[in-house]
Amino acid sequence: MAVGILTGGGDCPGLNAVIRALVKTLQQKLPEEKIIGFLDGFRGAIENRSVPLTTKDVVGLLPKGGTILGTSNRDNPFKFPVSVNGTLEFHDVSDTVIENLHKNNIEVLFVIGGDGSLSIAHELSQKGVKVIGIPKTIDNDLDATDFTFGFDSAVRTATKALDMLHTTAESHHRIMVLEVMGRYAGWIALYSGLAGGADVILIPEIPFNWDAVCRKIQQRKAEGKHFSIVVVAEGAYPEGGERVIARYVKESTDPARLGGIGQVVADHLSRCTGLESRVTVLGHLQRGGGPTPFDRILATRFGVAAVNTWLQGNYNVMVAFLGGRVTTVPLSEGIKKLKLVPVDSELIVTAKAIGISFGDE
Ligand code: F6P
Repeated sequence: MAVGILTGGGDCPGLNAVIRALVKTLQQKLPEEKIIGFLDGFRGAIENRSVPLTTKDVVGLLPKGGTILGTSNRDNPFKFPVSVNGTLEFHDVSDTVIENLHKNNIEVLFVIGGDGSLSIAHELSQKGVKVIGIPKTIDNDLDATDFTFGFDSAVRTATKALDMLHTTAESHHRIMVLEVMGRYAGWIALYSGLAGGADVILIPEIPFNWDAVCRKIQQRKAEGKHFSIVVVAEGAYPEGGERVIARYVKESTDPARLGGIGQVVADHLSRCTGLESRVTVLGHLQRGGGPTPFDRILATRFGVAAVNTWLQGNYNVMVAFLGGRVTTVPLSEGIKKLKLVPVDSELIVTAKAIGISFGDE
């Protein structure tokens, strides 16, 4: 028999560390079991493209970013994009995935992914496939786990960017706006803004008031601080306004890609304060590179726990990090809702206590 592994959705630091932990644990506990890695996310399972994995294949993977299996965030087997006479149609090809799993004698499929891939895993489990979910995303927006791996690494990159922007902002007396990822959640903006000493943090959970943001910068100017650092989450928007969409990926089941609010904020702040402003869009740098020590350890714990939970006879669950411990939750619970920053969170209270503005007061 064999086990299958795939990585789905946007990549993030730590995916390779999970693959390594899965392979090493499986080979120690079940040396006869074949391990098969499907390539490019669910597309590999649809097209039956895979590679065998042994401990030799995972040498040196712990610090390596990305995923050796490849990934895709537009290949949902339940809504697979197919061009029919030049028109894009979405077909259900989930039975092909199930046939391919049978052909490869797959007993259990380990799906390493975010909300999209874990929802697909859940749908497959409804059709009888045994799956174990392993949550990843830089956005940290999965409600059933306190942290996903990848998030800490993205925060590291954004914090480093803020440290670097500080020196140039101060030298030129400018407002520096840093736009970070996170989709509909403000976790990356909040954590990096706190760690990087931002003056203003704008997150989707708190629609901001233009006057309040301008006031904060003007107040700093009046205090003799002629530069300011603003972190804007890509999903942030002003009161009565809308999120800025950068592009649509029509083959994706979640087609809108956010981006562009940073420039809007920088332009507005220049006008209302008379200070020069510049915007930096950090983009996919946040997903690139190797994982932090925290993410390496979390990814390893998730990989080991995923194998152990399957060996204990559980499946259709997701591993999760709750209250400092790695545990499991039913997959159906894991995908129920997105985790947004609570507006009364202790982190926001802390930030406000040291004068950081969220544009709401
Ligand atoms: O979900 C991870 C993420 O990086 C988001 O933060 C971002 O909005 C999105 O993916 C970008 O997607 P893509 O790589 O398709 O542009």
